[in-house]
Amino acid sequence: MIVAGVMSGTSADGINVALVQFSGPKNGRGARKSLPAQVPKFRLLAHEEYPYPPRVRRAILAAMNAESARVDDLSRLNFLLGELYADAISRTARQHRVKANLIGCHGQTLYHQGEPANFLRRKVAVTWQIGESAVIAARLGVPVVSDFRPADMAAGGKGAPLVPFLDYLAYRDAHIHRIAQNIGGIANLTAIPAGAGLSELIAFDTGPGNMLIDALNEKLFGQRYDRDGKIAASGRVLDPVVTELLGDRFFRQKPPRTAGREEFGREYLARFLLLCKRSPKADVVTTATLLTARSIADAVERFVSPRFAAPLPAPPKIAAGRHKSHVHNAKSASPTIASASIQLIVSGGGAKNPTLVAMLRDELARLEISLHFSDEFGLPSSAKEAIAFALLAHETWHHRPSSVPSATGAKRPAILGKISYA
Ligand SMILES: Nc1ncnc2c1ncn2[C@@H]1O[C@H](COP(=O)(O)OP(=O)(O)O)[C@@H](O)[C@H]1O
Ligand SMILES: [Mg+2]
Repeated sequence: MIVAGVMSGTSADGINVALVQFSGPKNGRGARKSLPAQVPKFRLLAHEEYPYPPRVRRAILAAMNAESARVDDLSRLNFLLGELYADAISRTARQHRVKANLIGCHGQTLYHQGEPANFLRRKVAVTWQIGESAVIAARLGVPVVSDFRPADMAAGGKGAPLVPFLDYLAYRDAHIHRIAQNIGGIANLTAIPAGAGLSELIAFDTGPGNMLIDALNEKLFGQRYDRDGKIAASGRVLDPVVTELLGDRFFRQKPPRTAGREEFGREYLARFLLLCKRSPKADVVTTATLLTARSIADAVERFVSPRFAAPLPAPPKIAAGRHKSHVHNAKSASPTIASASIQLIVSGGGAKNPTLVAMLRDELARLEISLHFSDEFGLPSSAKEAIAFALLAHETWHHRPSSVPSATGAKRPAILGKISYA
């Protein structure tokens, strides 16, 4: 079966499409009994990226940041994005002469609040991704899985992150501790201890990814982003600014933690500029780039390295002891090899910023962690998240859960998404 995965992230830069061929368990209805025996095998056939037209990007950013918005405009944007996603998928399919049998479309997040909060006297956690899937199904003539996050939230989770399922399948290793580090608008990681099971992952947002760097470039240089990290490479780091900002509560907050435009959007940009005073413009971009790199390394040092060094906790009993296992669990019985090497594997648009990557490599060197690219593992950095949503759609189509409760905080795994039939 060929599945088209479609992703557009918080950067609101555009649409990533991945065409993925799956083989492997088809009739896995109900709970997955064993990993990795029941996971599908997959192969990336093609991937493409389509930037949003500037006017569409402006409309999306305006909707995300709106203090108040018109329902008619939001409704129009939902259907318009459905058309744009359909165009992106059919262009990719035509170009590579591959027809997908199923589509997994994440949609564009307009709002995400993973923690329950009071609203009209009830506590609710909410999320909203747009890009009308009925339109995509009609245009392409194949079913579409969309709206992946609500099922996890209904199960008590934060609805994010959802990529850890792919991270686990792609990166798990018996002897190497691995960290999947995605640098999109926000930067987030999945830590996979050597020999760990799916229930032993650690996943959280480290802080800003490209969001701050992009915003500063737009403001100071009138460019969408710092192409190839050229500006950051030309400036100097303003150390006091980095020290001041890394002292923020967010960076000390224990995982699970999530961030978005609420934390690192407009107001953060204003504060950053204020702290940089009248410094040369390039120095401001260099400083933001280092802040991103160091906040990642700090998060690894604080919250991940200790877990790699400690023996793994016994995996939690699943579903109130319904599937009591008599099988001796070798993974939890043997202490983690504290001396195992640690690899951090970068993906996302930030992997294409050589200055950011060099800074991150330096920061990680002091922790004796080596830096790699997801491309080395068959997951091109700009396609990885799109591949993830192809995988999640494939699992949903086969009635299998693909959320990772240890990452989202949910009480149980959930079958993610809703299906629109053509
Ligand atoms: N050649 C490049 N040089 C520097 N930065 C890049 C390059 N290509 C992409 N990026 C960065 O990656 C961002 C997009 O990353 P992406 O992973 O798509 O994020 P999101 O998931 O939030 O949409 C861009 O906004 C830009 O900051
Ligand atoms: Mg993007």
